[in-house]
Amino acid sequence: MRTFNLPANSLMRSKDFLFGVATSSFQIEGDRKGRETCIWDTFCAQSGKISDNSNGDDACRHIEKWKDDVELISSLGVDAYRLSISWPRVMTIDGDVNEMGMQFYVNLVDELVRRGIKVFVTLYHWDLPQHLEDNGGWLNRDTAYAFEKYATAVASTLGDKVYAYATLNEPFCSAYLGYELGVHAPGLTGVGKGRKAAHHLLLAHGLAMKALRATCPNSLHGIVLNFSTCHPATNNEEDKIAAKLADEYHNQWYLKPVIDGQYPSIIHQLRDVDRPDIEEGDMDIISQPIDYLGINYYTRTVYKATPSDSADVNFGFEIVEPTNTPLTAMGWEITPDAFTELLVNLHQQYALPPIYITENGAAMDDEMIDGEVNDVDRIDYFNSHLNAVNVAIEAGVDIRGYFAWSLMDNFEWALGYSKRFGIVHVDYDTQKRTLKQSAHVYSELVKNRINGTLAV
Ligand code: NOJ
Repeated sequence: MRTFNLPANSLMRSKDFLFGVATSSFQIEGDRKGRETCIWDTFCAQSGKISDNSNGDDACRHIEKWKDDVELISSLGVDAYRLSISWPRVMTIDGDVNEMGMQFYVNLVDELVRRGIKVFVTLYHWDLPQHLEDNGGWLNRDTAYAFEKYATAVASTLGDKVYAYATLNEPFCSAYLGYELGVHAPGLTGVGKGRKAAHHLLLAHGLAMKALRATCPNSLHGIVLNFSTCHPATNNEEDKIAAKLADEYHNQWYLKPVIDGQYPSIIHQLRDVDRPDIEEGDMDIISQPIDYLGINYYTRTVYKATPSDSADVNFGFEIVEPTNTPLTAMGWEITPDAFTELLVNLHQQYALPPIYITENGAAMDDEMIDGEVNDVDRIDYFNSHLNAVNVAIEAGVDIRGYFAWSLMDNFEWALGYSKRFGIVHVDYDTQKRTLKQSAHVYSELVKNRINGTLAV
């Protein structure tokens, strides 16, 4: 049987290091009728937006099956579960708390805590209430204040039963994919829109950080950012510059304001009309101290220089598609070394708080044979990436935990149900959950750890 191969003396083999599994509300919950409409409902309803024309109406029917799902999580023996709250389920259009919706999360969190599972709550994993989008969504500064109110409502209800709160999940995706490229909800395009949305998302983060800290001083508070290391296609100076610019635009754009209170210097290359309106005091709000940084990592990206076209949106970098490297079912390169590189570089560039790897995993072309999914390629992916984290820890990076993405197969955004990231297989016709081999191997790693800190 394929298994993991972490060094015997790895700090990750001690129970001080948290292992968890992660999901998000829209991707698993279903029960469309039990909540307000969100931007992903609207996006899914537009033809051609989701590759298999699906939507989140049923998803994994987690709202109905949550007790079984908690049992499943508990059976894995993991320390922690990262979930997200659906804003349109817990707040009404009038901005009041939807008591029934909120109660769902109260019950869920209570049950997880009762079973000794630490709860990591993400407040925004992309399911913006549609009524807020109708007023401009993340292009409207008021949305940041609506988020602050929503964050306060959740934190004052769930309190410190939640071990760690995260304000946003991957604001890069909300802003760039949703408001700049238009491949995610709400499907808008333009540099100016993307940058404006990003600024308001970051503002929302800062406002919520203050509120969370005041409401729940005993929980940890932070943000979850995604990174894809940017590599030059060649050793040419132009390609190296292209990779650096791409890194500033896609990665540092979200981290630097949070940690250093500044946007990276590529902001000066934006046309005036595309630059976000930064009001006095915004950067101070955005750079509230955080207790931890959540990092999501999947793959690297390769860039080459491209001639600048001043009439259009072009900062001089372009993606080079991978050739001859192993890929996941997403077409993403499998690059664990870049994961170590990312963690070590961030540690060197910034004064960071402790890090949790809040997502890492792979979609693979799973096959169910005789009721079993022997997902060797996913096991290998986890193995190489866990080892990459271990190397970073040995290099001095303070990493406290790792969450596998995902607990179970679910709605993979614009790719619908066609891509499976779960360590648990979901049959969408019957909603039957089946542990894949990767779930067994992950569970074995988690259960075989020893108490206390290991000497290294
Ligand atoms: C990051 C997102 O947070 C998650 O929702 C998504 O499913 C995974 N990446 C895989 O694409």
